[in-house]
Amino acid sequence: MSKTKILILGSNGMLGSDLVKTFRNRPKQYTVIPLTKKKLDIRFSDRVSSRFLAEKPDVVINAAAFTNVEDAESNILSSEINATGAKNVAQASRQCGAKLIHFSTDYVFNGENGQYNEDSVPSPINAYGHDKYTGEQFIQVYGSQFYIIRTSWLYGLNGKNFVDTMISLTNMKEVNIICDQIGKPTYTLDLAMAVEKLLNDDCDYGIYHLVNEGEMSWADFARMIFNNIAPNKMKVNHITSEQYPTKAKRPKNTVLLNTKRPLLRSVHEALEDYLFAWTHSN
Ligand SMILES: NC(=O)c1ccc[n+]([C@@H]2O[C@H](COP(=O)([O-])OP(=O)(O)OC[C@H]3O[C@@H](n4cnc5c(N)ncnc54)[C@H](OP(=O)(O)O)[C@@H]3O)[C@@H](O)[C@H]2O)c1
Repeated sequence: MSKTKILILGSNGMLGSDLVKTFRNRPKQYTVIPLTKKKLDIRFSDRVSSRFLAEKPDVVINAAAFTNVEDAESNILSSEINATGAKNVAQASRQCGAKLIHFSTDYVFNGENGQYNEDSVPSPINAYGHDKYTGEQFIQVYGSQFYIIRTSWLYGLNGKNFVDTMISLTNMKEVNIICDQIGKPTYTLDLAMAVEKLLNDDCDYGIYHLVNEGEMSWADFARMIFNNIAPNKMKVNHITSEQYPTKAKRPKNTVLLNTKRPLLRSVHEALEDYLFAWTHSN
């Protein structure tokens, strides 16, 4: 059997680097071409198109994104990367006959109801969510063989994330953490492995929700982290979103339901593994 050639865009990012690691773990099955922003900036359609035509990938995985939710409110780069970039990648993937795996976010939903399945209708309330939703729509219009994977509250070894922030606060006695935003924290390595399975199982094209299982608030998640790393030392004070004003409005309840694929393991188990890996990498 010939190997599947996979281009991974945004390969230096938190998810991108775990995707590279996961697919490289199966060298007999996959040839992995990691592309950082320096090697290929997805904002430029001609560069994306000529690179894809030259590489002739079987699969393109787009983990490139503008992920700073606060900055997205005023930075044009968010729409250039999350919307136009997604369009460029969809068009070029179609042109070279590659399957496309693209990532989106729970922030495409307004958070009023939670429990969103793959068919729920997005209605974003901030610029990042809006640009990511436009990206999804571009993929559907300009792409042909695509998977759109929505996920939420990511943490991983190669990026700034909530778990690492909590770890950095362990010398304090108490912290104030938001208790009225609910989601499913997800480990990028678990997500990368679920993506490999999705591809390997040759699933139908379409939208998927891939998240670790267990819905919680940021305050609950902080409590879970401190219970693992500094039991009984840290007091977690609950505050509301109103007490922590931000430029970007945050959706309140963006729990994603995975109704199409085997469920990923629990947030608790994933976090334990992450903390173990974190300890051995620092
Ligand atoms: N982080 C979360 O909590 C979260 C939640 C839900 C969904 N997601 C989605 O999951 C995906 C991965 O997120 P992540 O947290 O891994 O993101 P990340 O760590 O911010 O990584 C994004 C990567 O994209 C690269 N990039 C930025 N602009 C680019 C451009 N114009 N051309 C090519 N590459 C570019 C970045 O390179 P530089 O570092 O060099 O700028 C970076 O390596 C994204 O689609 C995101 O929207 C993330």
